[in-house]
Amino acid sequence: MSDNPDRFIDGLQNQIYEDTRSSYGERAFERWQNMRYMRPMEDPDGYAVVTGPCGDTMKVFLKFQNEHVQEASFQTDGCGNSAVCGSFAAEMALDKTPDELIEITGESILEFLGGFPEKDRHCAFLAAETLQEALNDYMIKQRENR
Ligand code: FES
Repeated sequence: MSDNPDRFIDGLQNQIYEDTRSSYGERAFERWQNMRYMRPMEDPDGYAVVTGPCGDTMKVFLKFQNEHVQEASFQTDGCGNSAVCGSFAAEMALDKTPDELIEITGESILEFLGGFPEKDRHCAFLAAETLQEALNDYMIKQRENR
């Protein structure tokens, strides 16, 4: 162990970063460090809150314009992995039509991430399920407004 505590802590942190990067992949690591789309939204056109089997809750907010997602965001009380998955779900939703949104699944989020540890794969499914519920909410409101 180094006799310089600061250097020891820096070394430890670098080791944790390296381990995280190699387990979760570059894309997930970068997003974890620079989180995007994690915010509530005023008056969303589609909104859902889903609690996964692990007990973590995710919220997804969608705003549409001309039948395309103009804005998407999420919030979660869950782990960093669920935040990463929620963030990519929101990003993947941008500019999509309802028909295209249906194609965003847990598998497609995992594919986009390019590898996620087996034990954390359910975080992507929670993000996708919440996104699909938010789309469902939008579709119901559309029907009601006709
Ligand atoms: Fe439950 Fe990540 S551990 S969503």
